[in-house]
Parts: sequence; C-alpha cells; structure tokens
Amino acid sequence: MCGIVGVVGKPAKDIILSGLTNLEYRGYDSAGIYLNDLNGHEYLTKAVGRISNLKEKLTPDEEGLVGIGHTRWATHGKPTVDNAHPHFDETKRFYLVHNGVIENYAELKEKYLQGVKFHSDTDTEVVVQLIGKIARDKNLDGFSAFKEALKLVKGSYAFLLVDNTEPDHVFIAKNKSPMMLGIGDGFNIIASDAISVLDQTKTFVDLQDGDVGDITKDSYVIETIDGKKVDREPHVLNIDPNAASKGTYEFYMLKEIDEQPGVMRHISQDYLDDNNSTKVDPKIAAAVAESDRIYILAAGTSYRAGLVGKHLFEKYADIPVEVGLASEFGYHFPKLSKKPFFIFLTQSGETADSRVVLKQVNERHLPSLTMTNVEGSTLSREATYTMLLKAGPEIAVASTKAYTAQIAVQAVLAKAVGEKKNIQIAKDFDLKHQLALAAVGMQQLVDGKEKIDELAKKYLANTRNAFYIGRGIDYAVALEGALKLKEVSYIQTEGFAAAELKHGTIALIEKGTPVIALINDPATADLTRGNIREVESRGANVMVFAAKEFAQVGDDVVLPEIDYYLSPLLTIVPAQLLAYYASKNKGLDVDKPRNLAKSVTVE
Ligand code: G6P
Repeated sequence: MCGIVGVVGKPAKDIILSGLTNLEYRGYDSAGIYLNDLNGHEYLTKAVGRISNLKEKLTPDEEGLVGIGHTRWATHGKPTVDNAHPHFDETKRFYLVHNGVIENYAELKEKYLQGVKFHSDTDTEVVVQLIGKIARDKNLDGFSAFKEALKLVKGSYAFLLVDNTEPDHVFIAKNKSPMMLGIGDGFNIIASDAISVLDQTKTFVDLQDGDVGDITKDSYVIETIDGKKVDREPHVLNIDPNAASKGTYEFYMLKEIDEQPGVMRHISQDYLDDNNSTKVDPKIAAAVAESDRIYILAAGTSYRAGLVGKHLFEKYADIPVEVGLASEFGYHFPKLSKKPFFIFLTQSGETADSRVVLKQVNERHLPSLTMTNVEGSTLSREATYTMLLKAGPEIAVASTKAYTAQIAVQAVLAKAVGEKKNIQIAKDFDLKHQLALAAVGMQQLVDGKEKIDELAKKYLANTRNAFYIGRGIDYAVALEGALKLKEVSYIQTEGFAAAELKHGTIALIEKGTPVIALINDPATADLTRGNIREVESRGANVMVFAAKEFAQVGDDVVLPEIDYYLSPLLTIVPAQLLAYYASKNKGLDVDKPRNLAKSVTVE
C-alpha cells in the first residue's frame, strides 16, 4: 500500500507519473509530486483520487531534474489534498514522501515540535517538520539532519527526502517498508517496487532495513543511521517487463486468471524433474521433515491457500498442521509443539501482520520458510528459507494466480517432505502429471468463461448477498471464492461449511439468494447435494460447480479430472471468473476495488 517513486538526473515528471501508475495496484486514494528543475524552480502538486487527477493539475512547464512522487492510502488523516504527500517543513526547505506508519509521531510532535505550524493530520508531516527543526536548531546539512531525525523515529518507513538547498540529491531511508534503488546511466531511480520502473532500468540495489542513502544522478552512498558505510551491490533483475503489462486485456484480473495454466507449467518445470521427483532444496525438506507440527501463517487469500495446504501436508507429509491468521497469531501465540516449523505464505512478502509473527519466530530461534512471489522481499530475507511461487507479477489487487501458485508449491513441498520421510503415497504422488492435469483443466475452464459471465449476469447482477458452500477441501475453496466475490463486486458473500449453514445462517436464505455449491469431496458429495436441496427449497438460486465424477445433469460447471487434494486448483477458477464478471458487469474498477491495497504494510 502506498507507492513511492523518486528520480534524480533525468526529466522526472513522466517517469514518476508512469511509475506511480504502475504502482496503482498497491491501492491509494490520493497522489502528489514534487519537482525541482535545479535552476531555482520547484513545483508541488497534489490531488485526491486517481493519478489522472494529478496529471490534470500539472502544467507542461512544471518539470524537474529531481522529483519525488507518492500515492497515499490513508492511515492517519482522511484522503485530502493537505494530507497527500509530499509533505514539507515550516520553512519549505524539505520535501518528504513516506510509505509506512510512524508509531511515535504524537510523542515526537509533543516533545520536539511545540509551536510548529502543521498543515496536515499525517504522521509523515511530523517527520519532515522534525528534520527541518533539527537542521535549523543544529545548523546541519540535510542528510545529517535526516539521520538525526531518524534516530528518534519509531515505525515503518520508506522515505524519500529532497532538501532544496542541495536539490540535486535525494536522501532515502528504509525500515520495514519496501524500497528498491534502480541504477541508470546518468540518473538513478528509487521506487517501492522494481516493476514500476522497469522501463527505465533493470539494474537494482536491494535496500535493507536500517539503510539510509544519499542518491545523486551518478552516485549512491548507503550507510547506517550512525553513518557507517554499507556495501550494497547492484544486480540485474530478470523480469520480463511485458509480464507487468495488461496487453489486450481490459483488466489485469482476467489476464492473471488466464495465466494460471502457464503458472502451473512453470512450477512443474522448476520444481519437479522428469522422473517426478521434487527439486526442492534438501535442507528445506529435511527441516520440515524433522518437525512435529507445521504452522502456516498468512493473511487474506494467502491464509485461504494455507487452509488447502493443511490438507496437502497432512496427507502427503504426514505432519499435523495448524493454520493461523497472522494478525491474531502474532499477539496470541498458542502453545507450540516441541519441534514446530513455520511457513509464511505471502504473495508480496511484505505483509506487516505476517512479519510480526516471523519476528517472534526468529526471536525464539525457530525454523521458518517464506513462500512468496517476490524475490528479495522482506519476509523472504528474514525467514530461514524461501521458496518462490513463480507466478510472475500479480498486479490486480484481488489475488488469483498467486493463490493457485501457493497451493501448487505447497503440494511440491508436501511431496518433497513425504519423499524425505520415505512415505509411499508421497513417492507415488504423480505431481508432474497432476500439475499437467491442472494446467489443461484450468485452460478448459478459462475457455468456458462466457458461461460464467452468463451466470454472473443471471444471478449476481442485482443481489445484495450470496453464499458459497462446500465440505472438506471445498470448504477452504468456499472461503476463498466468497472473499474474491465480495472484494471485487461488493456483494456481501460468505463461505460456509455446507452442513453448518442450517445451524443458523440458513435464516438469511430467501427467494433469489445466490448460493454457489462446490462438490469435489468423495466422502460428502451426497451430503452436500442434500444441503443444496435445503437452500433450494427456501428459494435460493443455486449454482453448482462439481467434479466430473459427482456431476449431475443441470450442474453449472463440470470440473475436469484431478486428484482431490489438488481440486482447489480447478474449483477456484470459475469462482474467480464469477467474481470478475460480477464486478465488471456492474461497471466497477475490477483491478482496484475500493478501500483495498495489494500489499498491506501496516498492522
Ligand atoms: C491484502 C491483499 C490480499 C492478500 C493479503 C495478504 O489484503 O489485498 O489480496 O491476500 O493482503 O497479502 P500477502 O502479500 O501476504 O499474500
């Protein structure tokens, strides 16, 4: 959430605006830019709402060879022009953009900034005012004042600072919020996410927590807050810039749903050899195999992927699994088993809630693994091990291909651990074949998207609420299907264990209420049919997504053949499409649902 882009050494306006546009997926409700032409002119422009509103406010002569820009997702203070970044100090010498949350801003204001005139309600302004005050009181240059201020600041941040007395520098600092430094020829770029500026450079320096830096057009100096120099070597990022573009699609969400067959093939190629053995770091498989319990921690869609992972690990690795919401777990650690192993599922690798748990896991010296889509992300760096999801950049806020990638990579690890433990069913688990079935089945399902569009038009156009029901592994998918539908279409949707509905929630079923029933579980297929009859007799419009072997005439989607434990890879596809069309048909901005952010770096 929030995006930052800074440029030094090149006309900055368009690079910043395009970078911020590429970061739109992170979620934001206002935007702003500061430009300095190094010739005595500076321009500060801010707007509420979309980046297009900011563009409209900028005149063609407003340009700079140094600039910092920001998209803000409101945390402290409403989304207004005053609260939008960049913020400035009282004397308008310093301009600052910030991604993160300052925990002690009230204390800093009270202790150091009495009598200072504020123009916003933000925690960020406190920091820039503090920098200004320190520079004035101690007669310091900008970089020194910045470092002095940082010693007092507690919280998460990625900061870009311009001091207009030395405008050819951008000063940066990072703690617990993502930020990359991009190296150009005669210019440098700083951004929250490399993807946003890939059209400018592919060479990046990964910044670490605690880094502060002084960036000019042809140099970068990285230090600790105490002024100790640190070496940060640049590396070339191997990402296809087209992977982050929408191509002919109207929305990223549909593009990403359509990409899932390719993701399955990619995972199969990278994690399985031709003999169907897993290619997983043996240290990871051994560490998990030694554990007596796996704790999977995650948030949002990743948590729901973890619920599927529980079935996979218990079946193929024969290890009990507890799945936790990171935000709850972090402050209420349960009694742990004797040899726990922690898995953090996180598309972005930046989720603050998950990081709180990982910090405590590290304090207890317990082994951990981050499964993430983002190489070099914070949770990846901080966990003992990392496995990459290999889903390619996911831009739509609603997660689709990262969810199925998380399930597939968990299946790979479950099999690897089972092989290590010499478990026969793990050795026999033909994952190569199953992932091929998943790819083919997904393709078949996305090819049938028009049918799902019709269902959305028929049943979801005017409804206020809807339900997903399923048992066994379908219950986990029901929770994710419901989340998808509610987040992009704003239809209030809940996922239920099919039998549980009758213990209360069935009271909400009335004529026309949409209920989507999922049927893959051999043990309960007939029982779920019974639950369908219960809601149908109360007037519900039921849509059934059923595995081929349990399908009946009249079912809406027949799911192609696959191992029951991997059935979520297929069941979720029509659910994702249903959410997509329900949103699109209402004319909503499918990729950027209101109030949501892709990467949530606050608790
Ligand atoms: C946000 C996103 C969700 C995502 C969740 C966890 O809420 O909107 O799509 O599932 O964060 O993110 P993570 O990056 O840890 O998977």
